[in-house]
Amino acid sequence: TSGELRVSCLILIGMMGAGKTTVGKELARRRKLRFADCDHEIIARTGVSIPTIFEIEGEEGFRRRETHMMDELTQEPDIVIATGGGVVLSPLNRELMRTRGVVIYLNVPPQILYERTRHDRNRPLLQVDNPRQRIEELFQQRDPLYREAAHLIIEGGRGNPGTMVRMIENAL
Ligand code: S3P
Repeated sequence: TSGELRVSCLILIGMMGAGKTTVGKELARRRKLRFADCDHEIIARTGVSIPTIFEIEGEEGFRRRETHMMDELTQEPDIVIATGGGVVLSPLNRELMRTRGVVIYLNVPPQILYERTRHDRNRPLLQVDNPRQRIEELFQQRDPLYREAAHLIIEGGRGNPGTMVRMIENAL
C-alpha cells in the first residue's frame, strides 16, 4: 500500500514506447484526475517539436526544460503525469518524483519497445543506424534507475495498456 504517499499525484516512468501516455490517459480518466504529458507540455510551452529542441539546444537543453517542467507538474494536485523516458537520468528528478508522488515504472521488454517505436521519427535518440541496439543499451542503462525511482513496478509483459492500468489500480 502507499502509506503516506500522495496517491493524488501519479507519475509514470519507463522507456520510450512503454505506454506511459496511453496508460496515463486511461488511469486519469478512471480516477478522475487531470492528465499531463511532460513532453507535450514542453512542446506547448516552446511551440516547437522535441526534435527541434534537441537540434537547437542539444539534449542538455531539453533536459533542463524537462526538469523545470517536472518541478511544475509534480506540484499540481490530482494529476497523472506521463514522463519522458530519460527523466530518471537526473538524480534531482528522481528525488523530486519520489517525494511528490507515487512513481510507477512500466517495465516493458526491449523487443516490444523496438517494435512500437521503429517507425517513429519524433524521438531523436532513436534516429541512429541501429535503433534496436540503441534501445537495448538505453534499457540496460536505465532499468536500474527506473527501479531506484519507482514505488511500484508493473511488469508489462507484452505491454498491453489495459492490463497495465488494471495492475496499477489493484496495487494503489
Ligand atoms: C526520451 C524520451 C522521449 C522524449 C525525448 C527523450 C528519452 O519521451 O522525452 O525524445 O530520453 O528516452 P517518451 O518516453 O515519451 O518517448
